[in-house]
Amino acid sequence: MKTKLKTIRDKALSAVSACQNINEIEDARIKFLGRKGELTKILRSLSSITSEERAAIGQLSNQYKREIESAIELRKDELSKKNIDMLLRDEWIDVTLNPRGTISTGRHGYLHPLSQTQYEIEDILTSMGFQILDGPEAETEYYNFEALNIPEFHPARDLQDTFWTEDGNLLRTHTSAIQIRGMEKMEPPFRIAGPGRVFRYEATDASHEHTFYQIEGMMVDREISVSHLIYVMKEILKAIFKRSVKVRLRPAYYPFVEPGFDLDFNCMICEGRGCRVCKHTGWIEFLGCGLVHPNVLKFGNIDPEQWSGFAFGMGLNRLIMMRYGINDIRHFMSGDLRFLYQF
Ligand code: DAH
Repeated sequence: MKTKLKTIRDKALSAVSACQNINEIEDARIKFLGRKGELTKILRSLSSITSEERAAIGQLSNQYKREIESAIELRKDELSKKNIDMLLRDEWIDVTLNPRGTISTGRHGYLHPLSQTQYEIEDILTSMGFQILDGPEAETEYYNFEALNIPEFHPARDLQDTFWTEDGNLLRTHTSAIQIRGMEKMEPPFRIAGPGRVFRYEATDASHEHTFYQIEGMMVDREISVSHLIYVMKEILKAIFKRSVKVRLRPAYYPFVEPGFDLDFNCMICEGRGCRVCKHTGWIEFLGCGLVHPNVLKFGNIDPEQWSGFAFGMGLNRLIMMRYGINDIRHFMSGDLRFLYQF
């Protein structure tokens, strides 16, 4: 009996170490340790032997069983390591190679100007205690409109025409949708910011593009006022332009804030005297902002009796155009290397 057991064990161990993949290992496991496996069959036949013998055989077969099991685990590890080594050897990609069919320009890739400025503003906001959140580019009507206090038949929906998917979802028209997703996850007080790509169904020209970038910000705390908003905006502008910047608020309508404003900063090209860039007003329109509407807080499960907040949404493309004197928004998505190499 003991020799029989040992033969099975030896057979099993050599079968396992000969396995070349996970399926073969599983077959070997079933063959030897499965319910109808060879070792199991032997143990079933134990009833025909004496009880002392049975104890010894039982012990031995358990020991063999463990040996076979650990051989199986070991072989599995070996095979998966071998697999990884093989992938590393055969499937590596040289990311520095030029795409097929292109000519080497002798230059390496680097971040797109949109990403550069986005990351820079993220750093500024993070240093002011804002947490950076992400949201999907394909949104539901609820997050893009409904929960931002823009009900289905409200005329404010017409302000932002968009691309709809066949199943009734849409490409987000603004990063404000991230506010709602953020509020659902956060406990006040909090500061959050959400950068991202947004889409509008629009005819394109030098200052309009169907795809552009925004950064949304929101602060919720007790007794937040417009002066908090102005302070934070000025700090952000100061950090971006590396000098102190004059701002002004004009009343504006956005359904998700009350009161709502457009925030302008003084034109740095003419120092406020008036030029073509600021359309001779001395001011550059920078972003929309305001104090969060109580309905929006409620949609975010936040009690407006206890908490208040401000929010803002800035267009990244415009800001970069201002910063570098870019005269056509369509350059950003054009993929024209002559444009990109300037940054
Ligand atoms: N979502 C607005 C837009 O795309 C910008 C905006 C305005 C965002 C006011 C805000 C806000 O958070 O309070 O035009």
